[in-house]
Amino acid sequence: MTDDVITLENVKIERDGGVTFVILNRPEKRNAMSPQLHLDMCEALDWAADDDQTRVVVITGAGGNFCAGQDLKLFFRANEGNPKAMRKTGNASQAWRWDKLSRFPKATIAMVHGYCFGGGFTPVIACDFAIAADDATFGLSEVNWGIIPGGLVAWAVTQIMGYRDAIYYSVTGDKFSGKEAAAMKFVNKSVPVANLRDEVMVLARKLEAKSPSAVQYTKEAVRSVRGMSQDQAYDYLECKSNALKALDPEKGREKAMKMFLDDKVFKPGLGEFKRD
Ligand code: ACO
Repeated sequence: MTDDVITLENVKIERDGGVTFVILNRPEKRNAMSPQLHLDMCEALDWAADDDQTRVVVITGAGGNFCAGQDLKLFFRANEGNPKAMRKTGNASQAWRWDKLSRFPKATIAMVHGYCFGGGFTPVIACDFAIAADDATFGLSEVNWGIIPGGLVAWAVTQIMGYRDAIYYSVTGDKFSGKEAAAMKFVNKSVPVANLRDEVMVLARKLEAKSPSAVQYTKEAVRSVRGMSQDQAYDYLECKSNALKALDPEKGREKAMKMFLDDKVFKPGLGEFKRD
């Protein structure tokens, strides 16, 4: 671990080599998202995107919980009747949970333990990968206190859940476990909570070892083609491939081809080539 990281009020940053943990840090409030936390998360993600050492970002929560959703007191009640304040914190809230995270230039993993409610779903969905503790508790609890899963939550859940599940969990507010989340592919997998960090690190190390440009362009391509017609996708993917070829500072494609075709020291089907 090094300490050359930014310090924020409601967000903690920790390093493990090229893996940077961005941690929602209001454990006494189960990491409910206050306006300050939203501003801090915007700052943290901007910092991590530009930080040369960071190859992979893990989003998680301090104190054994992921996030208890929006802070009902500081996000909702305190902003009531103040549209300017609501707009400012609302924008920051959307910016990090969807815009910045879903377009983040490096691999992202949501590490979910304990509670994850309401607005806490959005960053889980926006991350490229999600691994949960078997006994994590997910819930779209909005309906239980008379609101809808707004702020993009209803839209985000339909990006990842089947329609029946999206309707069921949004309308009933029923909780589901990490194990159930894995069964419905809301997360990639669930593991016993004692193994959660190790499991996340296995994936993070795998991602860390790959070409950063190939990871970035691949995730951008997969995300973007979802909303395209076949014709658009052909055209876009050709442009995207050419952009990667031209702009990859490591020239991974050329190096890998030489190692496979000329030097015969590398088999792409079996793993990544050794990067400089
Ligand atoms: N907003 C504001 N404060 C919260 C929130 C929240 N979403 N969640 C927890 N807290 C606060 C509690 O008020 C309490 O504060 P206090 O110590 O000053 O009284 C503290 O965090 C601890 O919470 P407890 O309820 O005492 O903890 P417990 O572990 O028993 O329960 C749980 C945790 C299940 C998360 C419960 O607090 C809860 O139901 N929270 C609300 C979850 C929710 O519905 N979130 C909103 C979703 S909708 C949206 O995000 C748009």
